[in-house]
Amino acid sequence: AEEEAARRRSITRYGVGPTQKYKSGNKLWGGRFVGNTDPIMEKFNASIAYDQRMWEADIKGSKAYVKALQKAGLVTQNEMEQILTGLDKVFDEWSKGEFKIKPGDEDIHTANERRLKEFIGDPAGKLHTGRSRNDQVATDTRLWLRDAINTLKELALQLISTMVERAAIEILCPGYTHMQRAQPIRWSHWILSHAVALSRDVERLEDIRKHVNVMPLGSFFHSPELKFDSISINSMDATGQRDFVAEFLFWASMCITHLSKMAEDLILYSTKEFSFITLTDAYSTGSSLMPQKKNADSLELIRSKAGRVFGRCAGFLMTLKGLPSTYNKDLQEDKEAMFDTYDTVHAVLQVTTGVISTLKVNQPAMEGALSPDMLATDLAYHLVRKGMPFREAHSCAGKAVYIAESKNIHLSQITVEDLQTVSPLFDKDVSSVWDYNRSVEQYSAPGGTARSSITAQIEHFRTWLQAQKQKP
Ligand SMILES: *[C@@H]1O[C@H](CO)[C@@H](O)[C@H](O)[C@H]1NC(C)=O
Ligand SMILES: *[C@@H]1O[C@H](CO)[C@@H](O)[C@H](O)[C@H]1NC(C)=O
Repeated sequence: AEEEAARRRSITRYGVGPTQKYKSGNKLWGGRFVGNTDPIMEKFNASIAYDQRMWEADIKGSKAYVKALQKAGLVTQNEMEQILTGLDKVFDEWSKGEFKIKPGDEDIHTANERRLKEFIGDPAGKLHTGRSRNDQVATDTRLWLRDAINTLKELALQLISTMVERAAIEILCPGYTHMQRAQPIRWSHWILSHAVALSRDVERLEDIRKHVNVMPLGSFFHSPELKFDSISINSMDATGQRDFVAEFLFWASMCITHLSKMAEDLILYSTKEFSFITLTDAYSTGSSLMPQKKNADSLELIRSKAGRVFGRCAGFLMTLKGLPSTYNKDLQEDKEAMFDTYDTVHAVLQVTTGVISTLKVNQPAMEGALSPDMLATDLAYHLVRKGMPFREAHSCAGKAVYIAESKNIHLSQITVEDLQTVSPLFDKDVSSVWDYNRSVEQYSAPGGTARSSITAQIEHFRTWLQAQKQKP
């Protein structure tokens, strides 16, 4: 009875379901299976449920491969034509959503080959000449990921371009460090800071594309239609490595870290306390209980997805660690990690673009949050311009802050007489310090907050985006 219960538990665990007929002769559960397969094992082993996403890459790879076989004299012209026509029919079925997966189709390669055989008969078997399933898996994965990278790159560029469009130069807001008010900045400076991080992600994506776009099937590199950049120089390495998947997972982790950080800033800015921004209804949700609430669900989800992607990356690295040479079935774990990560980043990039393009920027709230104490550094620079060393000027400005605090007034309200007790260098012209626009204009070096610096950043992005779009 205990064995029976265990059997039922594990059947349900792998989704076969206790009602399914279990036909494996009279063997005891847990005994060694000879001949007949164990349906749970079959299900456990099969990857078709997810790797069918690579159907197109699989057919594309096979078409190029059979042409290479023909050139090498391993299939005849006639056999090649039959295989190509058959593969086109399989392609048609997939693209029309008519392809039927049958029991025994463990993975996408088996499924496509089975269907090809149904269409053209024996010549289908020739497709496997000189190519193992593991070679094919590695090739398909690389082809699929290459396309996926192109799509993600486009989405990232769209987001960056939206951020550049939303970089309104006139609007000022507090800049924070340690989440404390630091100095006035332009809102555009904030948004572009996140665009810079994303532009590094795009460049990193280009770098990993080179490692993805390597043909694992050495001898058949010369296939012009697959457009691989280079060739794997060692066959044992070729079938046994998934560095390119790990690199992609790391890339996604870094990219989503950037998006998660930006989301956190925006969540904070959307609170009533800040009210710097307002999300449109399309990207926020009301509370089912408290009618006044508008929750930044979109941003919270963006923030949260980082955990999921990191998990995929860490999990897959753990799978790779300590594997023996060449192909091991463990490597099959790469697909779900890769697909799930792709789907997540694919959605997150688009939602972020939606949020950024529709959010309302509340200029009065942002500028209302500026306070004269944020100009204390400028007060020090004022003295530096009059010849005082910065260390000393910093200390004088600190004393002025202390006076304002002890008198319970704003820094800008201290009289010139009081300031002169701190340093005789203070004069009537100190009043020019208390202007936020003037403050941000002082920082005109590259990377600064002055209008000219921001304009230069925007110009940089426009040129960069143009160059990225023109790349193949
Ligand atoms: C597991 O799947 C592979 C294809 O990925 C297949 O060749 C093999 O026969 C399957 N093994 C079992 C035990 O089902
Ligand atoms: C800064 O100047 C812009 C006009 O260029 C104006 O819209 C904005 O309100 C000013 N900000 C502050 C805080 O004075």
